[in-house]
Amino acid sequence: MKKIKKAVIPVAGLGTRFLPATKVVPKEMLPIVDKPTLQCIIEEAVSSGIEEIMLITSPYKKTIEDHFDISYELENRLEKSNKLEELKIVRGISKLAKLYYVRQGEPLGSGHAINLAKSFVGDEPFAVMYGDDLMFYDKDKPVLKQLIDVYEKHDCNVIGVQEVEESNVHKYGIIKYDDEVSGKIETIVEKPTKEEAPSLSAGLGRYIIKPEIFNVLDTLKKGVGNEYQFTDAMKELMKKDIFYACKFDGIYCDTGNKTGYLEANIRYALNRKDLREDVINIIKKLID
Ligand code: UTP
Repeated sequence: MKKIKKAVIPVAGLGTRFLPATKVVPKEMLPIVDKPTLQCIIEEAVSSGIEEIMLITSPYKKTIEDHFDISYELENRLEKSNKLEELKIVRGISKLAKLYYVRQGEPLGSGHAINLAKSFVGDEPFAVMYGDDLMFYDKDKPVLKQLIDVYEKHDCNVIGVQEVEESNVHKYGIIKYDDEVSGKIETIVEKPTKEEAPSLSAGLGRYIIKPEIFNVLDTLKKGVGNEYQFTDAMKELMKKDIFYACKFDGIYCDTGNKTGYLEANIRYALNRKDLREDVINIIKKLID
């Protein structure tokens, strides 16, 4: 069985749910307190054993490449002013992983974006991580690593899932199980009503995918929103290939929507020793 060493992170979406903030600043670069969302996601990839990452970016998102590149001027200035802790942080960013970039000229959908990684991926199974789906997890259990463990057990495609409230199933791709105990998937039902929902398991922005997906993506037709949807490609692949769900431990925040983003910031701040007490006091003051 081939090891999962590569990840693809599509970050070329327009981020319309977060306008006007995302007019110039990519949503994936909005900070979770003091760290861009995308850096948190890349750190999850690296701690899951990923060695090479391709970011599908866009002509309007140049700051992403700059953020993960070496910044000689800033590093020199930090060194000269003896700000060694800050220097360490800045240097660490450019050494996180081997990053590659390809531009999606037009935002034609997640399926179109991921298909641009075809030659980078080659004939290996790989990870897909959505650039705005942020996970909080125990240090020794990164979410992507939990999916990789399922892949290694079954030699199959894997979708990261969690149970959502019945009243929220209409927001997600909901899993129809072949066998819920083992996690074997039959198909996905996109944004069902609660009556139609075949389970409460929602697919949440983390996938392990076999390279056969590219055959499907090459001939994929446009779907919801007149875009090429990655979920449609997975549904097609499910007809001939095995998919398992990984009910992962961790907390998921969709930072592409406003409340998900606010929740991510509060959670992150509460997890930080240097900020926790102050944040609790602020929240108490605000709600009293
Ligand atoms: P989303 O649907 O959350 O992103 O896609 P979006 O289109 O930016 O969202 P809106 O406009 O707020 O509704 C999930 C991931 O796929 C990327 C996004 O950047 C996000 O990280 N994506 C989406 C692309 O790379 N290309 C696309 O054409 C669409």
